[in-house]
Amino acid sequence: MTLQSIAEQLVAKGKGILAADESDSTCAKRFDAYDIEKTPEMRRTWRELLFTTPGIEKGLSGVILYDETIRQKTSTGVPFATFLTSRGILPGIKVDQKTEPLADSEEEEVTKGLLGLQERLREYVGLGATFTKWRAVIRIGDGLPTSACLQENAVRLAKYAKESQAAGLVPIIEPEVLLDGAHTLKRSEEVLTETLLAVFAEVEKANIDLSGLILKSSMALPGKDSGLSASPQEVAKATLRAFSSAVPKATPGIVFLSGGQTPEDATLRLNEIVKEARTQNAPWRITFSYSRALQDPVLKAWAGKKENVKSAQAIFAKRVEDTSRASEGNYGE
Ligand code: G3H
Repeated sequence: MTLQSIAEQLVAKGKGILAADESDSTCAKRFDAYDIEKTPEMRRTWRELLFTTPGIEKGLSGVILYDETIRQKTSTGVPFATFLTSRGILPGIKVDQKTEPLADSEEEEVTKGLLGLQERLREYVGLGATFTKWRAVIRIGDGLPTSACLQENAVRLAKYAKESQAAGLVPIIEPEVLLDGAHTLKRSEEVLTETLLAVFAEVEKANIDLSGLILKSSMALPGKDSGLSASPQEVAKATLRAFSSAVPKATPGIVFLSGGQTPEDATLRLNEIVKEARTQNAPWRITFSYSRALQDPVLKAWAGKKENVKSAQAIFAKRVEDTSRASEGNYGE
């Protein structure tokens, strides 16, 4: 498969991506809420519940895995990547490795993972991966983000994307503008625009093939602690203004992270953004790459208990179906 065909498949009509690439520590936080044992076997069981849910291939084009997960198997002994591929779902892999403090800016971080990346990518190809993901974190606050933070994260995102393409893997570049903070929708739009401009300037400098690249983005939203609300239409317009000023037309697709929004908000807002993008004749396919907005109600229903697997899978199938409908602008119709 070419980079372009993988990218197109990832954002095919009515489909989106499940992010199941939580690190052990993030997974531990989610498991703690329901007193689920934090062992590799419980994480394997949880991912198996998700991946074996009947019908999800209708709404999922890909699943992002974590290093531990891509080495795990179903209870019948099939490696997860092989299993997903057999269902027509592309396996991908998170390749960034935690963050480090940004020099001279105590509250900001840069993402690590370039060291030894080439060798790891080669191994992941052997394990069946077809695409990769790298997440950078951008914080809005007093005097934040600094241009040094935007710049350093953008440079690393572009370096990673270049290496990923060289290994034959489609890079998903994810500069996440956090929902944390008391900022307005307007400020979020400004920071999203600046972030994307910085990232795509570096992508261009690195001579990256845009046809084999996916952008994973936040939506423009008022900060979690702002006490402000915005309608799905306002969110859609602000988000698309940021994309129009910064994302090259040749980028085949943009997928959203959910970033701590409720599943219902993430679905409604995606639906509205897709409808608005259609009205504006936007050049990109727009869909989802959610972790929490797809998984939270499912994890709650499962709570680590065997007897809950079937009912949790039914909830997951419905989340995938609803989110897939939103990716076509048909949710709630
Ligand atoms: O990197 C972040 C994940 O891929 C998306 O997670 O939907 O819970 O924000 P989220």
